[in-house]
Amino acid sequence: MLKSVITMPTTIRDSFLSPKDYGLPEEADIARFAAAYFPEFSPKEEPPAYSPILLPSTLGYESAKIPAGSVKLPVQEIRRDFPILSEKVDGKQLVWFDNAATTQKPRQVIERLKYFYEHENSNVHRGAHTLAARATDAFELAREKTARFLGAKSKDNIVFVRGTTEGINLVAHSFVKPLLNRGDEIVLTYLEHHANIVPWQIIAEEAGAVVKAAPVDDSGQIILSEYDRLFTPRTKFAAFTHVSNALGTITPLEELIAIAHGYGVKVLVDGAQSVSHIPLNATALDADFFVFSGHKIFAPTGIGALYGKSELLEAAKVYQGGGNMIADVTFERTIYQKAPAKFEAGTGNIADAVGLAAALDYVSNIGIERIAAYEQELLQYAAEQLRSINGLRLIGTAANKASILSFVLAGHDNAEVGKHLSQAGIAVRAGHHCAQPILRRFGLEGAVRASIAFYNTFDEAAYLKRVLLELTR
Ligand code: ALA
Repeated sequence: MLKSVITMPTTIRDSFLSPKDYGLPEEADIARFAAAYFPEFSPKEEPPAYSPILLPSTLGYESAKIPAGSVKLPVQEIRRDFPILSEKVDGKQLVWFDNAATTQKPRQVIERLKYFYEHENSNVHRGAHTLAARATDAFELAREKTARFLGAKSKDNIVFVRGTTEGINLVAHSFVKPLLNRGDEIVLTYLEHHANIVPWQIIAEEAGAVVKAAPVDDSGQIILSEYDRLFTPRTKFAAFTHVSNALGTITPLEELIAIAHGYGVKVLVDGAQSVSHIPLNATALDADFFVFSGHKIFAPTGIGALYGKSELLEAAKVYQGGGNMIADVTFERTIYQKAPAKFEAGTGNIADAVGLAAALDYVSNIGIERIAAYEQELLQYAAEQLRSINGLRLIGTAANKASILSFVLAGHDNAEVGKHLSQAGIAVRAGHHCAQPILRRFGLEGAVRASIAFYNTFDEAAYLKRVLLELTR
């Protein structure tokens, strides 16, 4: 198990079923195979646990050939931290390629939540008792760790939200809407998830403002000259994704921010699909706002973070009213807290914020740079596998991509492909991916999307190809 940041009992782990209980190969056999791929994690010290690395051979074909000199990540060891990766679905070993929709959770996160509810649970900031102090400390430490992870100057730059969607809505309503007059403009891009389109449309409609979107080229990359051309003296705000959830395109963040700032326009970066794949430093990037969801980075659902520059958070109006966000209330007026508290009305998602910090620790302990390097090689390999299938069209072929491989298969509708993969244990998303404008740009109403994380293996990618080939025959 990778180093845990807190010391807690490991009873959950100890009570786990062994591979044999699932009718899977013995550890010694697995170790033999795993050692071939990750020699530095050979079974001399601790045999790796079961992983789908054995799947292809049990299906009677050669295992994936890892490119020579590829990045070494202790994937087998990492996989042992994620209990659900040993799950069987419909009698098949689960292969989780739906990471863009949500990621799986390591034991360190699951146990942290358990520990919180067993030893720390209380409301924060309010009680004059020991558990209130413990819960408040854990919650504020989580804010501090989130700030560090994003390269924020202070923990006060971090507002806890339900997720990316709530973070974007908060900025739209509290910061941007008060800036808008009839005829003003908000600049987006074609790559946006609906969560980074609809909130802007709502406030634009209320203010009589206009939403514009920068086009992409045939690879799915933003055309910078066209993006630049969209800015006018009426442009009041710009919002764009860091990684497209439908295509995987990594956008040129520095250039997008610099162009907007060149026109005096503040920006919001949607980091939902980049935060678990790419090293980030919101301060160095000079992002005005940056949002992400915890559940995309191995943390629980229902928790996310909004980073904002201090002066912008102070300038923004309050979002929701209620307890926690006030300094003083009379019937005549209310005095609000400073940011971030002024945006956190009511009791927040305390335990899951603590779980988020555990997830960020987990990722940081491995190193996001190493994760990015491993995933890049796996993504290239998986793309090659898919490209070699007759009739398969990859959607989104930008030079800079992360995690996502969307495709359509001639003669088979997306739902049918998704169902066929699911029957083989492979989880993907099939549909419009909450990103209809970008799919329509490629003449599609939907696609099949396989999305990888650092616990995925080359053999899983080879298995994906094999199962797709079965369908085409
Ligand atoms: N935003 C998530 C996805 O792309 C739900 O699947």
